[in-house]
Amino acid sequence: MAIETEPPRQINHVAIIMDGNGRWATRRGLPRLVGHRKGAERVREIVDLCPDIGVRYLTLYAFSTENWKRAQAEVAGLMSLFRRYILKEADKLNENGVRVRFIGDRGRLDAKLIDLMARLEEKTAANDHLNLTIALNYGGRDEVTRAVRTLAVDVAEGRVAPDDLSEDAIGYYLDTRYLPDPDLIIRTSGEKRVSNFLLWQAAYAEFEFVETLWPDFSGAELTRIVEGCTGRDRRFGAIAG
Ligand code: IPE
Ligand code: IPE
Ligand code: MG
Repeated sequence: MAIETEPPRQINHVAIIMDGNGRWATRRGLPRLVGHRKGAERVREIVDLCPDIGVRYLTLYAFSTENWKRAQAEVAGLMSLFRRYILKEADKLNENGVRVRFIGDRGRLDAKLIDLMARLEEKTAANDHLNLTIALNYGGRDEVTRAVRTLAVDVAEGRVAPDDLSEDAIGYYLDTRYLPDPDLIIRTSGEKRVSNFLLWQAAYAEFEFVETLWPDFSGAELTRIVEGCTGRDRRFGAIAG
């Protein structure tokens, strides 16, 4: 009996752990924040490119739940960079048909940033050329913890029966409920770990770890990686047919 395998992988959803901004700056004798600013410029090129190479979902890890442990000045600089990015890019993203959404816990962010995020989501809600998701104060364990908390209330109040809980039902409680699972997760800067990114969603993702520091990551490199992954045999636990 032939084992049925899925058709070759199409890379529809790319998720990126944008790492190496600090090292990029330090190697040049510059403050780490300069690296973060350069990194934000990279985001523009990558966002513009994705639809051209068939990528309809792009998810970017911008700030983790662990990144609060950094020096207060760096955290403040990053938060200010996020605000400026939204203010500066909102119109262009909208004109380019990009739908922007945020995942992560907004509770710890400042009111001004929360407001800018909500307004950008609202403004771009009708777009579907590219789905850009920005993970800001995101941690996979935190996401699952918040989901379980909400789910526990729904069970306690009789809205959900424990026997009805399926993988899909759990997915519905996650921040990513509206996203397909990532097909490919890229991490720049040579580190080979997931650092709490999309822990549930990455179950069958391909991983690519590249040495390039995020501020040097180009559209050409992304294109090469995506092309290299397209057509890989996708077995989901079966054996090759
Ligand atoms: C990634 O670059 C950006 C964030 C985590 C916000 P880093 O700041 O982690 O850069 P390195 O790893 O120190 O080089
Ligand atoms: C992961 O990078 C988080 C983001 C890219 C936002 P980090 O630099 O924070 O991860 P670790 O500390 O090396 O695991
Ligand atoms: Mg890092």
